[in-house]
Amino acid sequence: MRLDRRHLVRSCLTLPLLMGRSAKAEDNESLRVRASRHARIYGVAVTTEQLLSDVEYRKVIVREAGILVAEGETKRNVLQPQRNLFNFSGTDAILKFAQRNAQLMRGHTLVWHRANPKWLTEEIITTRDEKLLTSYINAVVGRYRGQFNSWDVVNEAIEPEDGLSSGLREQSIWFQAFGETYIETAFHCARAADPKAQLFYNEANLEGDVAWSERRRRATIKLLERLISKGVPIDALGIQGHLKAYRVKYSDDVFSRFLDDVASLGLRILITEFDVADAGGPEDYVQRDADVASLTRRFLDVAFSKPSVIGCLSWGISDKYSWLSRDDRYKWPDGQPSRGLPFDQEFKQKPMWDAMVSAYDKTAL
Ligand code: G3I
Repeated sequence: MRLDRRHLVRSCLTLPLLMGRSAKAEDNESLRVRASRHARIYGVAVTTEQLLSDVEYRKVIVREAGILVAEGETKRNVLQPQRNLFNFSGTDAILKFAQRNAQLMRGHTLVWHRANPKWLTEEIITTRDEKLLTSYINAVVGRYRGQFNSWDVVNEAIEPEDGLSSGLREQSIWFQAFGETYIETAFHCARAADPKAQLFYNEANLEGDVAWSERRRRATIKLLERLISKGVPIDALGIQGHLKAYRVKYSDDVFSRFLDDVASLGLRILITEFDVADAGGPEDYVQRDADVASLTRRFLDVAFSKPSVIGCLSWGISDKYSWLSRDDRYKWPDGQPSRGLPFDQEFKQKPMWDAMVSAYDKTAL
C-alpha cells in the first residue's frame, strides 16, 4: 500500500466517522487531521505496553496519529530472540491497534548494527551466511505483506568516524560479514517480499549545521547515489530528526539544501523519529518549551516547503514516555523529564504541538 497523497487524505479524514461520532472540534484540530488536510502524514512511535496500559495515551494516539511505528517491538532482538524462535506478538498487537483505528503502519527496522540478538552476533561472524539476512527479511516482511505501508530496511549504515572513505559504519556485524553489499541485498529482498511497501533507508544526525553532520550528509548522498545507480529498489530516505535544541546548531539553509539534494535523486523523504532534546537548556521549562517549539517550527517549515517530504513521525508523543529521559546523553540529572515531544507528562498540548500544527497548516494542498 503506497503512501500516496490520495490514500493519506482518505484514511485520516475518515477516522471520526469510523469511530461512530462526528468530527468533534478537537479531532479537527488533531495533527492527524491537519496533516491529512495538506496531503501529508503525522505519526508516532508507540509501544505495546503503553498502548495496553495507558488509557489517556491511547486516546491521544488515536486522535493524533495517522501512522504508527513500533519503538522496539519490530527490532530483531525482540522479533527473533533465539535462532528458531520468532516473537511477533508485540508488532501484531500494534498492527491490530492501527488497523482498528484506520491508521497506517510502518516497520522499524530490518537491518541495524544495534538491537541484534546475541546468537546472531555470534553466528554471523563465524558463518557469514547471507541467509541470516535474507531469510529474516523474507519471514518478517512476508508476514506483514500488504499490511505495512513502509519499512526502514536499513538503519544507520553511515558512520564517518569509523574511518572508511565511503563513510560507512565499519563497526557493524553486517558490514563485517558482507561488506557494503548487505545494503543492496536487504533492499532487493524486502522488495521481493512485499512489492507494495515503500522501502526506506533511515539515518541519524543529518540535521545539524556542524562539520560532523555535514560529513554524514555527504556520505549518505554518496551511498544513495551508488544504490540508485545499481538499480537498488529504494523509495525514500528517512531523516530521523532527533534535534538537540541547545547542543547542535541548526540552519534552515543547510537543511533545505540537503533536502533538495535528496529529492534530486528522485527519493521521497519522511522525518521518521522527530523529537527535540532540551538537555543543556535553561532551568525554566517554560523557556525550554518555547525554544523547542521555535526550533520545531523552523525545522518543519523547511521540511514541509518541499513536495518530496511526505510527513513526520515523532519518536513518542508524550514526555511521560520519551527515550530522551532514559538516555544518559540527554536525560536531566535531577530526574525531571525531557520535554522533547508535543504533549507533556499529563498529555497536555505544549507549544511544540502548536508549532507542528502551524507547520502542517502552512503548506498549501
Ligand atoms: O524490554 C527490556 C526490559 O525487559 C528490561 O528489563 C530493560 C532493562 O534493560 O530493557 C528493556 O529493553 C530496552 C528497550 O529499549 C525497551 O525499553 C532496551 O534495553 C533498550 O536498549 C531499548 O532502547 C531503545 C533503543 O532504540 C535500542 O533499541 C529505545 O527505547 C528506543 O527509543 C531507541 O530508538 C532508536 C531508534 O530505534 C533508531 N534511532 C535512534 C533511536 C533512539 O536511540
